[in-house]
Amino acid sequence: MKATIDPTERRALHTAALGTQSALVIRRVELDFSDANVRWCPKAPEYAHLLNAISSFVPHLEAFLVKAVRAAAAQLPADAAPELRRDAERFAMQEARHSKQHLRFNRRMHECGFDWLEPHEAGMKADFQRFLDVKGLRFSLAYSEGFETFGPLVARFFFENGADLMAGADDVAVDMWLWHFAEEYEHRDVCNYLYAELYGSYRARVYGLWYAAIHLFGYAARMAWKMIDADLDAGVLRGRWRTRARFARVLARLFANLVPTLVVRCMRPSYDPHLIAPPAGVVAYLDTMRATYGTLDR
Ligand SMILES: [Fe+2]
Ligand SMILES: [Fe+2]
Repeated sequence: MKATIDPTERRALHTAALGTQSALVIRRVELDFSDANVRWCPKAPEYAHLLNAISSFVPHLEAFLVKAVRAAAAQLPADAAPELRRDAERFAMQEARHSKQHLRFNRRMHECGFDWLEPHEAGMKADFQRFLDVKGLRFSLAYSEGFETFGPLVARFFFENGADLMAGADDVAVDMWLWHFAEEYEHRDVCNYLYAELYGSYRARVYGLWYAAIHLFGYAARMAWKMIDADLDAGVLRGRWRTRARFARVLARLFANLVPTLVVRCMRPSYDPHLIAPPAGVVAYLDTMRATYGTLDR
């Protein structure tokens, strides 16, 4: 695989792409989790716990993304596309709003008996701080881009290939995930384009991608397993091996949907997230959320 792409040519493509899109929209979504059921997906309880485990690190991850992206934007060259600076700030605002809703949901999880997650969450927070302080901005931005690479792929799973898993689940949790990953699709260019402007190294990007994948999914799988075990011990879930087999099937289904595109498309030196088509229903869903909650601008 060719490990380089002409930076001038790539910059021209990115500038053209940025010129075609309007500013990212900051939807003022506010969700009420005060009575939320943390076992929100009765048809696929193991899937709900996998997403719950992901939610538990999201506020710390997104605080890290915001710091990395703002630090990167501050280092952009004077002739960088002005839309990239604008979108970097609006990316930070979108991520901050995702964090706020996940924090509320996580508080509800802690209240409902999953407070043992807190030291694990603190461990992830410490990892992210170490990335910024010790590993530096190039690694942190490559890691951020690694996570962001998953955004459109997970959005496609939520809206298309895995949509049946959330059918009939509690609306408030479903909205948190659909809104969050629809916006992850929407702002998919930002980290990639910032990284290309500042560093561009293909190998460091791919290293960041796999580092983030193993760090985040490793944590999520371990915590989901513990949450499922806690529910089995409490008698909320029944049939230990049947439950574990269902969890393994959910993981296998998710990976079968994400990994081929990750390897075949996202690992190419010429990968450009702008060219990924919106998953079915994403644009209409974002329009509905905008109409329901309003935006920061209007
Ligand atoms: Fe986010
Ligand atoms: Fe994001």
